Formats: sequence, C-alpha cells, structure tokens
Amino acid sequence: MGTKEALFTNVSIPVRSSGNKVTVVGVGQVGMACAFSILTQHVSSHVCLIDCVEDKLKGELLDLQHGSSFVKNAKVEASTDYAISAGSKVCIVTAGARQREGETRLDLVQRNTDIMKFIIPQLVKYSPDTILVIVSNPVDILTHVAWKLSGLPKHRVIGSGTNLDSSRFRFLLSQRLGVAPTSCHGYIIGEHGDSSVAVWSGVNIAGVRLRELNPKMGSANDAENWSQLHQQVIDSAYEVIKLKGYTSWAIGLSVSHIVGAIIRNTGNIQAVSVHVKGLHDIEQDVFLSLPAVLGEEGVTDVVNQILSVEEKGKLQSSAKLMAEVQDGLRF
Ligand code: NAI
Ligand code: LAC
Repeated sequence: MGTKEALFTNVSIPVRSSGNKVTVVGVGQVGMACAFSILTQHVSSHVCLIDCVEDKLKGELLDLQHGSSFVKNAKVEASTDYAISAGSKVCIVTAGARQREGETRLDLVQRNTDIMKFIIPQLVKYSPDTILVIVSNPVDILTHVAWKLSGLPKHRVIGSGTNLDSSRFRFLLSQRLGVAPTSCHGYIIGEHGDSSVAVWSGVNIAGVRLRELNPKMGSANDAENWSQLHQQVIDSAYEVIKLKGYTSWAIGLSVSHIVGAIIRNTGNIQAVSVHVKGLHDIEQDVFLSLPAVLGEEGVTDVVNQILSVEEKGKLQSSAKLMAEVQDGLRF
C-alpha cells in the first residue's frame, strides 16, 4: 500500500470541474491580467488557460499554481488543447494581435477575426452552455463575429466593450470632483474606441445630475471644458500604449468585474457590448455597449437610457461605422 492509500479511506469520487470554471484564451498581457484579477478577487476557484504558444502557457501556469495557497486554493490548469476548457461557465477571449503605436483598434480587425474562426467553435464544442466574454480588439466587431461563429443566443455573447471606458471616465470624474470613483455615476456607451459616446445627460453624484448645475456640461461651449474628460478617455489607450507598450491592469479588473456578476448571478448593471439592433432605433446588426443587467445566463436586460438627441445620434453613427467594418470582413 502506498502512502496516499494508507493516508486516506476513500468515501466518494471527487468532482473534477467546479461550478464556477472560467477559461481564458490568450495568456498575453491582457489574458494574464484577467486571470490574475479573477483569482485574486476570488471570482472563480477554477481557472483554465489556453494559448497556442506552449512554453509561455506552461510558464504562466506554473507561476500562478505556485501562488495557489494565496488565492484560497483555486485550481489553475492549462493546455493548448481546448478539451481542457470543458464545462466552463464563462470563456474569456483575449487572444490576438494588439495595436502598435500609431494603429487603431479597427486596424486589427481581419487578423483577429481569422483567429476567432478557430477559437470560438472549439470553446462552444466543449462548453455549449458557456457565456462568451470577448476582449480582443476591435472588441465590438469581434463580439459580433464570435456571436455568428458560436451559434449561441445573443444574450450569451458579451464584449467587454466600454466597461473599461466607463471606469476610466468615473476615475477622471472622481479626480475632478474629489470623491471616490464609485460615487461618480456616468456611462460611456457605443464603440469601445474613438467613436464612444459620453452620456453627459445622465452623469450624476448622489442623484444630482451635473447638467442641472451646468447645462452646457459636455458641450463644446462649456466654459469648464468638462468634455475634455471624455477626450481623455478616448486618448487613454493610446497614452498608455505609448508609455508601456500595451494596456492590461484596468482591462483585467474590468473583465473580472463582468465575470463576477455572471458567476455570482448578481444582476449588476454594467456597460458591456451587447446586440443593439432595435435599441435606440439602431437598424444595423451590430454590437455596441449599453448598460446591461448581468447574471448567470449572461445579459438579462438592457437599460433603456433616456439619451439626448445628440447622444442618440452619435450612438447611431457608431452603429453605422461598425456595420461598415463588418461588411468588409471575411469570416
Ligand atoms: P499579447 O500579444 O500580449 O497576447 C496575445 C496572446 O494571444 C499571446 O499570448 C498569443 O500567443 C495569443 N494568441 C494569438 N493567437 C492565438 C490563437 N490563435 N490561439 C490562442 N492564443 C493565441 O496581447 P495583449 O496585450 O494581451 O492584447 C490581447 C488583445 O486584447 C488585443 O487584441 C488587444 O487589442 C486587446 N485588448 C482589449 C482591450 C479592451 O478593452 N477590449 C484592452 C486591452 C487590450
Ligand atoms: C484599451 C485598448 C487597448 O486599453 O482597447 O482601451
């Protein structure tokens, strides 16, 4: 009899896959920030990593496993074989090329669409009931691509979208007003990119709409130039990429927040990229970010924000832009 056999009297067969398994495809800067955030925030006790570069994957696996005792004994697995993702409640896709200095997110579209063509069918094959959370850029387009490739219902295919932009916006509001970011209520909607829309009409602190105090807030002729905050949001990625070569920590925390709402079925309302055809009179078959209610089945509801004429027009322009890019895609 071996040591282990002598140590234990078996009582039952252990369950190998937890009820909160999360797969992350792509163990680059963003994928690892997502995995690390999910583990350290105890969003999941079972994280599975997939990538096509074996050594990097093995190295990231070992490096995370060595910290297991610090993340409540969470289980971390990794393989280049998608079979390891079987039974995932959520599959996060961060695989793909990232923009280099001087590139926009849209410049990545065909390269990353081609990558999705292999990844998405594999994930759905092993986890047909999963929720897909797409992060790779251009995220709104690739969320549409993932939806089409997956055959999943639209409420189970979500893009991280302007969840990150809204967090950047709340941080900048907090800096301007001297209060906590979570006390600054404001949404960036539409494209996670250069055509995003700041919903100035809804920005409020403790229910006080700032437009009540400054009716010109967010407009070009606002003496206080609040619209500069939205421009800073749009410029954020370019600024960070210029400084450190990529963005990672904020998007990792953003994705962990999204996944936490799904896994814990909280009903959190977050700006994420959802199928918007028919909302705000949008006619195109596209994904854009709106405040959505998140639970274990994915998106349960989308908030019908009361947008100004200008905000609605900008959102509809984003939809047209996404549709034009999608029309040029081969997949
Ligand atoms: P990275 O280059 O550090 O990592 C990409 C990873 O994907 C690499 O490990 C690579 O081996 C892997 N990969 C590539 N092709 C693959 C395939 N066919 N199957 C499996 N793995 C594959 O890039 P980084 O910085 O992690 O960015 C990843 C993506 O996330 C980029 O598209 C970037 O634009 C996007 N991103 C999105 C954000 C958002 O707010 N939605 C924010 C930041 C980045
Ligand atoms: C961002 C880019 C990379 O950090 O999508 O917003």
